[in-house]
Amino acid sequence: MVLAFLAEAGDELVSGEAMSDKLGLSRAAVWKHVDALRAQGYRIDAIPARGYRLMGVPDRLGELELRPLINTHEIGHALHWFSEVGSTNDVARALAEEGAAHGEVVIAESQTAGRGRRGRAWISPPGRNIYLSVILRPDLPPARAPELTLLSSVALCQAVRHAGVPADIKWPNDLMVHGRKVAGVLTEMAAEVDQVQWVVLGVGINVNARAEDFPPELRGSATSLCLERGQSVPRALLASAVLGALEEWLDRHAAEGFGPVRAAWKEMSETLGREVRVRSPGHDVEGVAEDVDEIGALIVRTRAGRERVLAGDVESPRPRSPV
Ligand code: BTN
Repeated sequence: MVLAFLAEAGDELVSGEAMSDKLGLSRAAVWKHVDALRAQGYRIDAIPARGYRLMGVPDRLGELELRPLINTHEIGHALHWFSEVGSTNDVARALAEEGAAHGEVVIAESQTAGRGRRGRAWISPPGRNIYLSVILRPDLPPARAPELTLLSSVALCQAVRHAGVPADIKWPNDLMVHGRKVAGVLTEMAAEVDQVQWVVLGVGINVNARAEDFPPELRGSATSLCLERGQSVPRALLASAVLGALEEWLDRHAAEGFGPVRAAWKEMSETLGREVRVRSPGHDVEGVAEDVDEIGALIVRTRAGRERVLAGDVESPRPRSPV
């Protein structure tokens, strides 16, 4: 609890008094907790008469590090942790088929068969990045499932920006920093005709990967938060922030629909206003990306008129044109 409290305060100092009031602990008990955390490798500043501040957490992503940081009602309450899996999405799909509950999370230190969108591989070296899959059971018809994909990229972008890295979103859900990809989401689902049974949101974030962790052909287009920020990022803090942001946006989506998600996505988008070529199954669409519609499709103004694209990869031959 002390750790979750400090983590939530971010850079702010938290007074010992506030913590003991909120957590129902004596000031001496708070101090003992802080001491125990320091012994586990957490760096905590204690400034006399002002309070405590979390300065660094050990870069491990186990249940022990993650559990105290998770401050959600549902997302991540059940946590399935693995040192190595084929793909966290495959594990999550199997769990969902066996009846796993909304919000269960599968997380791994490494993947031997990490999967990206459109049949691509996802580079998953051990101990550096985040690979997690969240099982959702939304009350939605299958046609509205793409909304969750855009929602997840908004949550991801919010958490990464909060970690001090200026990310934006390339349609539909690639997270970009300075034009290179740092994270992606692979959404998979099972549905009846009129109701989604389960959705698995598979999130991969290149957190502390070094250039040599990427194969040479990806080095120009992929990057990591550490490479962009010039400083490593504690994975457990980021993973818990992603789960927290995801829960916030899911709650908002359930209460208010897709409108606020769409507005946030547009604000975070690097795609809108740009000349694009969208490589989509069957054919390519070229023009200016104008909008995302009420189900998350990309609206492209082409020479022939407007086209609505439901799936594909965006390439931007030229920088954003002034509007
Ligand atoms: C993309 O192509 O942009 C999507 C990448 C998604 C990668 C994540 S890593 C965790 C989860 N397990 C997988 O096999 N893939 C997703």
